Amino acid sequence: METLIPTINRLQEVFQTVGTEIIQLPQIVVVGTQVSDSVKTCCVYILFCVYYCPKEMNTEVPKCFELKVDDFFITQMLSLFLQQSSGKSSVLESLVGRDFLPRGSGIVTRRPLVLQLVNVAPRQERLKNEHGIKAEEWGTFLHCKNQIFTDFVEIRKEIEAETERSSGDNKGITSEPIYLKIFSPKVLNLTLVDLPGIIKVPVGDQPENIEAQVQEMILSFISNPNSLILAVSPANSDLATSDALKLAREVDPDGRRTLLVVSKLDLMDAGTDALEVLLGRVIPVRLGIIGVVNRSQHDINTQKSLEDSIKDEHVFLQRHYPSLVSRAGSRYLAKTLSKLLMHHIRDCLPDLKTRVTVLMAQYQARLNSYGQPVEDHSATLLQIVTKFATDYCNTIEGTARHIQTSELCGGARICY
Ligand code: GDP
Ligand code: MG
Ligand code: NA
Repeated sequence: METLIPTINRLQEVFQTVGTEIIQLPQIVVVGTQVSDSVKTCCVYILFCVYYCPKEMNTEVPKCFELKVDDFFITQMLSLFLQQSSGKSSVLESLVGRDFLPRGSGIVTRRPLVLQLVNVAPRQERLKNEHGIKAEEWGTFLHCKNQIFTDFVEIRKEIEAETERSSGDNKGITSEPIYLKIFSPKVLNLTLVDLPGIIKVPVGDQPENIEAQVQEMILSFISNPNSLILAVSPANSDLATSDALKLAREVDPDGRRTLLVVSKLDLMDAGTDALEVLLGRVIPVRLGIIGVVNRSQHDINTQKSLEDSIKDEHVFLQRHYPSLVSRAGSRYLAKTLSKLLMHHIRDCLPDLKTRVTVLMAQYQARLNSYGQPVEDHSATLLQIVTKFATDYCNTIEGTARHIQTSELCGGARICY
């Protein structure tokens, strides 16, 4: 695993540079709803006017919005108001163990973010010497060649700046991903994709068909058979109507690559809990259902650390879900994901290998046609790809043998 994932990450970069998507690599994609605060404010305003304002105003408001206020309209407003961001960025941050994702009220994630986590513990000293890095953890962007970010606040600012560069500063959404790598001794080797949330109502510069556009973008990522789908749904909403699960089922009807994360366990009404849901008795999810508690907006405002958050999450789970402590929480989620990724890679190996072999033959033929000696930039690139493809094939064979001979499932409830 430790050697396979960095190879895959590097391959993904090389193929990105060459401009092809011939090999679809395994990655984990986060899906969930996202509701803009301005939409909510608008709902509150309308509901307030309808229920609390004097009669005259009650008719003024609908007139200025050109809306017909009937029971159906009120119900729609209420359900919009009750909808919420599912906490995708929070889930991702807890996996990374650092605060760096643009987050907060409104539609913050407006470009897909392909996030490659690289565990550097074994190679840390060599890597650090190579780059003259003094920090424990650092990040690099594909679009900022040779620039090393040791300050995670700067990483967040760069994501925001790069988002605005391509999609404008008024809520525009782009499908072109940002590629970010995080090197850290605290992460498991994982590739994660953060996506804009499923949107219900256009705001700002968003075109009328924004819902369809975003849905298409999400589908383009999750329909990749090499993607593991992390559907994030808040515990305090009706799981049966989870948009994330609905989308996931469209592309993965058998649930072979969908994992459900139930966020915001702490926000359930007093006297209710998510036990039935977490045990899979409400909606069965083949790969598993994992409950988590992340930082609330208040926690973020008061700068509660992720370490404290994970400790408190554990205390919360012990108190409210003692029977599930070993199968819930952010840490367990990270471990499960790593295992699922390995299983997924194993399942993809035969097909990947065939493709790489075909690709290698094609590149070799093209390389030969350049003749000797070659000073062509594209030829050099092709050589790099060929080298990686060869390394990759060797790694695949090694990993395949390793996987066949080792017990993978451990104590996890994964039925793969
Ligand atoms: P996203 O829009 O889906 O990426 O969601 P965010 O991660 O930005 O979270 C949206 C809001 O929900 C933020 O204010 C978070 O602090 C809050 N939030 C996320 N997860 C939890 C949780 O488990 N419990 C509580 N109380 N709040 C959460
Ligand atoms: Mg987000
Ligand atoms: Na948000």
